[in-house]
Amino acid sequence: MIFGKNINLWAIEKSDLVQNYSWGNDPELVKFTGITPLPRSGWEIERWYESVLGNPNIFVFSIKLNDSTYIGNVEITNLDWRNRKGEIGVMIGDKKSQGMGFGTEAIMLMCQFGFGEMNLHKIYARILAFNEIAVKTFEKCGFKKEGIERDSYYSGGEYRDILIFGILRDEFREIDKGN
Ligand SMILES: CC(C)(COP(=O)(O)OP(=O)(O)OC[C@H]1O[C@@H](n2cnc3c(N)ncnc32)[C@H](O)[C@@H]1OP(=O)(O)O)[C@@H](O)C(=O)NCCC(=O)NCCS
Repeated sequence: MIFGKNINLWAIEKSDLVQNYSWGNDPELVKFTGITPLPRSGWEIERWYESVLGNPNIFVFSIKLNDSTYIGNVEITNLDWRNRKGEIGVMIGDKKSQGMGFGTEAIMLMCQFGFGEMNLHKIYARILAFNEIAVKTFEKCGFKKEGIERDSYYSGGEYRDILIFGILRDEFREIDKGN
């Protein structure tokens, strides 16, 4: 387990899949995370879990409060070991736990893990431009805007821009030192 102050990061367990089924079928979460907006079956969620198990190129952790309440997931995927970078994603699926600092803490813990344990040089995020809360959250963690992928995601009948945000290891260390 990765211990934080208010949350801890755990390995995803089979018993977490029921919750992921419900989050994966929540239209609002799907819209903001930018995953393909299709209804998901239990089988697909299980396939996702199996693809994550023991996969050295994907780290997916569950975010749990100190009393073990499961509130979301944080991940680093698309690992590029030669260039030592990976893409971070975060979701506080439990709506009553949003806006309480847990997303910020999960990103900070995942960056400590990515830079401190996996020896990454850079971590980046792809954020839908209309997701202002996610932009603020990543900026709060020290991520800098690097660019825009124009009209790169189709949702609700419109093409949307995706913003690329990134942070380098040295930049993160400076920010993390101050906490
Ligand atoms: C985006 C998300 C990860 C942010 O995590 P969170 O725990 O809700 O946010 P935090 O409490 O850590 O807030 C971080 C900052 O975001 C902003 N923010 C958070 N909630 C907000 C709200 N309801 N309205 C406006 N700004 C808000 C604030 O600037 C806040 O910093 P501050 O408290 O110092 O002012 C979370 O809301 C979420 O999972 N949303 C749905 C899925 C998603 O969008 N995932 C991200 C895909 S890139």
